[in-house]
Amino acid sequence: EAAEKCGYEHFMLKEIFEQPKALQDTLASRIKGGEIHLAPAIDALLQECTHLLIVGCGSAYHAGMVAKYVIEHFAKISVEVDVASEMRYRTPLCRQGDVCIVISQSGETADTLASLRLLKELGVKTIALTNVVGSTISREADFVMYTQAGPEIAVASTKALTTQLMCLYLIAMVLKKNHDATLLAQLSQIPSLAQKLLEKQEDIQRFAARQFNKDKVFFMGRLTDYAISLESALKLKEISYTHSESFAAGELKHGPIALVDESTLVVAMCTQPQLYKKMDSNIKEVKARGATALVVTFDRVHEFDDTADEVFRIPETEPYFTPMLTVIVSQLYAYYCSVLKGNDPDKPRNLAKSVTVE
Ligand code: G6P
Repeated sequence: EAAEKCGYEHFMLKEIFEQPKALQDTLASRIKGGEIHLAPAIDALLQECTHLLIVGCGSAYHAGMVAKYVIEHFAKISVEVDVASEMRYRTPLCRQGDVCIVISQSGETADTLASLRLLKELGVKTIALTNVVGSTISREADFVMYTQAGPEIAVASTKALTTQLMCLYLIAMVLKKNHDATLLAQLSQIPSLAQKLLEKQEDIQRFAARQFNKDKVFFMGRLTDYAISLESALKLKEISYTHSESFAAGELKHGPIALVDESTLVVAMCTQPQLYKKMDSNIKEVKARGATALVVTFDRVHEFDDTADEVFRIPETEPYFTPMLTVIVSQLYAYYCSVLKGNDPDKPRNLAKSVTVE
């Protein structure tokens, strides 16, 4: 096992550090001659798509949440996202031409598989987005797109999620129809930006060393930053057993602020420039109640310098592409909190890598 960890203390840390390569592998095989080509049948299906459904569980669902913002923003196609355990029991209203992306790292999650079967019965065309070749979901879906993450051993998903995101961004660009060379160039830079970010991991480790004993951790953001807040809170609770929650920052006043006090850490994801002012006032509100605030924003952004206790900076890119970077900050924070609390981040209590029974 030590050999398989390649010198890393845990599989989770190894898998976090494998992300630049996994992202690059997932991206590179799909770009030819400066254009995105998924597979002829998938490209053709997406050309006709007028409404998209996305289904998954856990982190896969969060990838879908990011994709909703991204696809609606770039491609102007409506997207409906649901957790599979809800989708399979509700009454999805599907129309001719609907396409569903079924996201599952393992390709074996029971609820996700049940949703896939239901949607197929309803006549929806399905694309499996999975990491495991030959998995049940990959075999039963009409089409399949593989993430090139390589085996993911740690229970908490890291590189599977970021490569799912990369595939969803590629899908968004295909759905967008009019080719945008600047966006594609920015997307192609994400693997090297992820590498740059990982080189600053000690900053996150130091911050975790100061904050890992906080009773409550809230992640907040707007748009894609909100979607990544969901994933960030999940990661932290899964492996550090800290009470962590996430909410759309605009919801702060509708409940969460009642829980904010001196024992609270608030992580504010702030990568949407048009919303910096709104985020800044949310941060002031939690600070006024004694919370500690960490802001995650871009290099060269100084809007939060006077408000935040600490600012972690990610490399500049298109704001809608930041989830593949900001989530790495959360993964590292969760990992170090887990280790500092004496937990085994690879095998968190009560959790399984794949939930194959309901
Ligand atoms: C479990 C895992 C999560 C994962 C979820 C969905 O809860 O611990 O990391 O996101 O299942 O798994 P799947 O294999 O369908 O992506």
